[in-house]
Amino acid sequence: MATILTLAGSVRTHSYNRRLIDTATKQLQRSHPHLQLRPAPVAIDDLAYFVADIEAAGAPDNVTAFKQAIEGSDGLLIATPEYNGNIPGVLKNALDWASRPAGHSPLDGLPVAVMSASPSSFGAQTARAALLSVLIASGAHPLPTPAVSVSRVHQLPVADDDTLTLTPDITAAINQLGHLFTQAVNSDRPTRGRGAA
Ligand SMILES: Cc1cc2nc3c(=O)[nH]c(=O)nc-3n(C[C@H](O)[C@H](O)[C@H](O)COP(=O)(O)O)c2cc1C
Repeated sequence: MATILTLAGSVRTHSYNRRLIDTATKQLQRSHPHLQLRPAPVAIDDLAYFVADIEAAGAPDNVTAFKQAIEGSDGLLIATPEYNGNIPGVLKNALDWASRPAGHSPLDGLPVAVMSASPSSFGAQTARAALLSVLIASGAHPLPTPAVSVSRVHQLPVADDDTLTLTPDITAAINQLGHLFTQAVNSDRPTRGRGAA
């Protein structure tokens, strides 16, 4: 069993990106039952703004819990909205905490995959690319996944369990993402330089 931590880059009550994470989770648990997908244990809007002085004084407990959850996982799956052509600040702040200390963070060497959703016709693909850039800078290993950028997400039917009815191409791309996580966790990857908190 491998654990994949999931993270929605929006804390909005009816967030499409949280629904995308929930939908992918349910799909992957059916198609890849050896992958255990678990939501991040903290609300990212509860994390303090990253300030090096706060870090030097000792990271807050919820930051430590967030980093330990990443440390204890075999992969990370994120869905991000797009705010003005980039990822929301609340997600960037969480990843800035997770990226510390540079070179020895829980993100270092971690297989990651990125999805995005937006009501626009571009599906927040600019934010998706920006998120990959942040993750690469943090030492994570993005999987060579097909792009999962859900456009016009507000037009998709929502099922009774609050999941989205995705198009066949997005469903296939999420399935491929499951294959790639499986390959990554089964391969002999270099020791991750991870040191939570
Ligand atoms: C401050 C702000 C900026 C936004 N900028 C963009 C943008 O650049 N591109 C885009 O596709 N959508 C943009 N949107 C619309 C979001 O994609 C939309 O609100 C989306 O539903 C947010 O994701 P969520 O449903 O997961 O919370 C923006 C929304 C806000 C509040």
